[in-house]
Amino acid sequence: QTDKPWAGRFTAPTDAFVEVFTASVGFDKRLYKHDIAGSIAHARMLAHVGVLSEAERDTIVDGLRAIEQDIERGEFAWSTSLEDVHMNIEARLTDRIGDIGKKLHTGRSRNDQVATDIRLYLRDEMQVMQAEVTRLIEGLLGLAEEEAGTIMPGFTHLQTAQPVTFGHHMLAWVEMLLRDLARLRDAYQRVNVLPLGAAALAGTTYPIDRLFTARELGFAGVAENSLDAVSDRDFAIELVSDASVLMMHLSRFSEELILWSSAQFDFVDLGDSFCTGSSIMPQKKNPDVPELVRGKTGRIYGHLMSLLTLMKAQPLAYNKDNQEDKEPLFDTIDNVKGCLKLYADMMPQIQVKRDNMYEAARRGFSTATDLADYLVRKGVAFRDAHEIVGKAVRYGVDNDKDLSEMSLDELQQFSNVIEPDVFEVLTLEGSVAARNHIGGTAPEQVRAAIIRVRTRLEQL
Ligand code: ARG
Repeated sequence: QTDKPWAGRFTAPTDAFVEVFTASVGFDKRLYKHDIAGSIAHARMLAHVGVLSEAERDTIVDGLRAIEQDIERGEFAWSTSLEDVHMNIEARLTDRIGDIGKKLHTGRSRNDQVATDIRLYLRDEMQVMQAEVTRLIEGLLGLAEEEAGTIMPGFTHLQTAQPVTFGHHMLAWVEMLLRDLARLRDAYQRVNVLPLGAAALAGTTYPIDRLFTARELGFAGVAENSLDAVSDRDFAIELVSDASVLMMHLSRFSEELILWSSAQFDFVDLGDSFCTGSSIMPQKKNPDVPELVRGKTGRIYGHLMSLLTLMKAQPLAYNKDNQEDKEPLFDTIDNVKGCLKLYADMMPQIQVKRDNMYEAARRGFSTATDLADYLVRKGVAFRDAHEIVGKAVRYGVDNDKDLSEMSLDELQQFSNVIEPDVFEVLTLEGSVAARNHIGGTAPEQVRAAIIRVRTRLEQL
């Protein structure tokens, strides 16, 4: 009991289970580096404004650095009775350097301290996330480049719709991830604001220089309002929301990879090192990585709901509820980083089965719209053309023939404007090449789009 920094006004010791129940050190110790960085900046600021002497500052800074090394070497004994990472480190500082250590907390509260720690931590993690999203985008661009002209069936309702190029399909994922990247970069601006100086809730009576601390820690600015500074967790909710959208994208991507690697589709091979086997069925090669990514999406959505609900009824300013922000946030970061890493690593391993995709595109009348457009070019109204081609498809279904396999005579039963040039539009190559505009699936457009994406990435 005696070792608690706040023990002064208490006469009875903390109930043993209350101590365990209220402690956060078990999970917030991962903030130690950022906690120490924040404390060093705070000590320097206090010396800058004359609240600490330069000698005191140096003693504190050296002590904090030594503690950081102890922690990194695994030589720091974390104590539950010291509640959280902040009080553990502060208590150890005083053990190490004596009474000067007790001056570090001048003009500061754990409320502005923890808000600062989380923001410092998130800045680092968000940069890693952005780098991983970029690496995944680059992997997809590599695939898109190799497979710019590879033809596959495009789907709506999971039914064969029109032929597309595999490169074009990969670039759809690239667009989603570019938006995710933009969202992360945007959220970063709201993370990169310094709460320190708000103290418990109202500010402090010391002549602090918050801009000095912000510069020391590389923050773009300081939180304008002390009550908001200590109680705002919008930035965490925003990140988990952005992470949820990102995971939604990875989950959709996973779903396709799982389908495509099945024997029924057989469009891709995910590579042995990214699959696992079955303990009973010797033939199995399971797409566990995409399945787990799809599964983990649910828990990230859960964390978003946790954080929104955590904040919904909190009066100003800090409440202990906020301690519950950490586990959802940390779990989100750990899992999203893991998913991104695996996906970025997996991209170069994906083997594309061009022949199977081509065959699948040939089945399912995927050039029916091309035939209708051909009739329109010959003067038929689109609705009539649609009807004519519908009949030709019906004939194809009954006679087990694709449109491109029908003879000219067979096709001419449905319309007398059909001429021998029809076969150019009935080929898969002709179909994709004809969609030759920005955003279209033509191989030429895929190559041009890849170049534009690379420029967009460079300009970020
Ligand atoms: N462990 C606390 C948290 O995570 C730190 C702030 C505690 N402040 C307080 N007044 N009890 O939020």
